[in-house]
Amino acid sequence: MKFAPSLLAADFGRLLEEAQAVSPFADYLHWDVMDGHFVPNLTFGPVVVNALRDRVSVPFDIHLMITDPQQYAPQFKVRPGDLISFHVEAVSDPIRVIETVRSTGARAGIALRPKTPLSAIERLLDQIDFLLIMSVEPGFAGQSFLVETLDKIRHAKELIHKKGLSVEVEVDGGVNAHNIKEIARAGADIIVTASAIFGDKDPRTALAQLRALVIS
Ligand code: DX5
Ligand code: ZN
Repeated sequence: MKFAPSLLAADFGRLLEEAQAVSPFADYLHWDVMDGHFVPNLTFGPVVVNALRDRVSVPFDIHLMITDPQQYAPQFKVRPGDLISFHVEAVSDPIRVIETVRSTGARAGIALRPKTPLSAIERLLDQIDFLLIMSVEPGFAGQSFLVETLDKIRHAKELIHKKGLSVEVEVDGGVNAHNIKEIARAGADIIVTASAIFGDKDPRTALAQLRALVIS
């Protein structure tokens, strides 16, 4: 299983330091881009993410919780292997946005709010590299994992398997040391965690401990 620590619970005054502290031990660095419109919170955009791009070696995982990913996705400086996801609820022509994301060189993912059913994206599964399943309402770190997500993860994995695809399933929100094993067993390929890593006084050790839980 891969780990994508989310900077949403990091100290924004020490963003570079926080990113560099975990990046040697992470598979991705997760960026929660919010526009105050698709979600009721504002974070950072391309200016901030791009400023750190060449100073952090781990692949970036850019989660766009914004109304207009078609306009803003091309503004991110990406490297091959980086991920960009956008919310299917935000757009009317997801195929066009997938093409735009791919044109940046990033791998393309679709994100789903907790209440959006898999049927909303079933026809798009063969068009994407990964599916981001939100296990909290998007907008804020530190919320509780919605247990009904476990069935959604299992169902997504079944659909992907049935279609013979290699789409990865990313799970985002409320993951911690108490529930990570169950989430791994349900089939998550990539885990996002903000509070469980950056809420700890020693983010590196917190990440190592989470990893150990899913290996053992
Ligand atoms: C929520 C974000 C998540 C969030 C997870 O809108 O998409 O990535 O940072 O935070 P925790 O791990 O604290 O639930
Ligand atoms: Zn996220």
